[in-house]
Amino acid sequence: MADTLTVIDNRSGKKIELPIEHGAIHAVELGKLGIVSYDPALLNTAACRSKVSYIDGDRGILRYRGYPIEELAEKSTFLETAYLIVKGELPTTSHFRMWQHNIKMHTMVHENLKQFIEGFRYDAHPMGILIGTVGALSTFYPEAKNVMDLESRRVQTRRLIGKIPTIAAFAYRHSRGLPYVYPDNELSYTGNFLSMLWRMTELKYRPDPVLERALDVLFILHADHEQNCSTTTMRTIGSSLADPYASVAGAAAALGGPRHGSANEEVVHMLHEIGSTDRIPALIKQAKSGERRLMGFGHRVYKNYDPRAKIIKQIAHQVFEVTGKNPLIDIAVELERIALEDDYFVSRKLYPNVDFYSGIIYEAMGLPVSMFPVLFAIARTAGWMAQWAELVTDEEQKITRPKQLYVGYDERSYVPLDQRREGGALETEVSGPL
Ligand code: ACO
Repeated sequence: MADTLTVIDNRSGKKIELPIEHGAIHAVELGKLGIVSYDPALLNTAACRSKVSYIDGDRGILRYRGYPIEELAEKSTFLETAYLIVKGELPTTSHFRMWQHNIKMHTMVHENLKQFIEGFRYDAHPMGILIGTVGALSTFYPEAKNVMDLESRRVQTRRLIGKIPTIAAFAYRHSRGLPYVYPDNELSYTGNFLSMLWRMTELKYRPDPVLERALDVLFILHADHEQNCSTTTMRTIGSSLADPYASVAGAAAALGGPRHGSANEEVVHMLHEIGSTDRIPALIKQAKSGERRLMGFGHRVYKNYDPRAKIIKQIAHQVFEVTGKNPLIDIAVELERIALEDDYFVSRKLYPNVDFYSGIIYEAMGLPVSMFPVLFAIARTAGWMAQWAELVTDEEQKITRPKQLYVGYDERSYVPLDQRREGGALETEVSGPL
């Protein structure tokens, strides 16, 4: 049997044979018949070849560079996983030492950047601060525009992974009116982040090892996730050869939406709103009627339990040993139980995703909900940079520029203002998108 797909245009009788490679056909080949593939939200379109992460949504599998997420969460550290994601292989001892050194070299930010953050309003959302500040970094490092230069790509990758926790922590301290804490490079990547968040007057901040490890594992779980919305944004911006700071700012903006990386914020709001387990059925009813979504449930790719959610659920109990139990966990567990027995969720294969339990842990650790998407962005920066480097070095890639199906007016003539009888769009098209 040939690895081909035969397409016959029944309007003209024209027939083409398309090679099938990796289970895909080249959509451009359809151009031979004068047709395009229409795929809103890219539900069934592969836009790149990638070696970074692999998901089998039906079996609930996630691997980074071939390594199962469960093994990495158990045995690796975030910085080692970041190396794996960026470089493609686990490091040797000496390479890992060098990598740690190279990342720590970049944890400081330019003093002007501090002033830049100070310019944000006292109650600015930290995700907005992160997006704006990362975007501003490109003005500090204009050489970053040399995206085809390997050495430049390496430096910007180390810089971004090094600086993003500092910017995130400064954004938090800004919203609290607290002085910024400079990096402490004697601590681990995650320990230093906790120090920059929480250090007060003590000379040396010593993170609780359980919380430090829990956050590190959460970072591992969030480090990459193939062609999700923010990574697709990173690749789309990167395809114009914009510098990586602009691309990461755009990716973070996409991550900040409630259907993506801000869902963890929404989950915690939702659980607080429920307040007690006896009010769960009312929420389930609203979700089933389409009035609202059950936040932290459902995924475009996972049609099974999100493997990350399973790991996070286990970590929650370790964290509560230190912080005390977050009462939201009881509501979440019961909500999951009820939803997974309900035909609406079962038939649509809606399972808890990574965001369902992560917010409960962050809240137990004392982090405000507004910081949840920021934590996500810290971890995902490794994945974004790996995917971006893959994009700019991929000879098959060009500037991203999808087609559209034009469904608007045919040609019509301009009518001078004083001759228009009908009301304008405001009156006639009240149901239009704007
Ligand atoms: N609650 C209730 N119903 C839902 C939910 C939900 N959370 N998610 C999907 N559905 C329903 C839809 O109403 C739809 O039902 P229908 O077929 O009767 O119309 C069906 O399930 C399919 O939903 P789609 O919106 O087509 O699924 P899609 O793949 O486009 O959306 C998404 C995936 C955005 C994650 C969605 O499930 C959702 O909004 N979930 C809540 C937000 C969330 O948790 N986001 C985090 C995702 S993980 C991440 O980004 C890190």
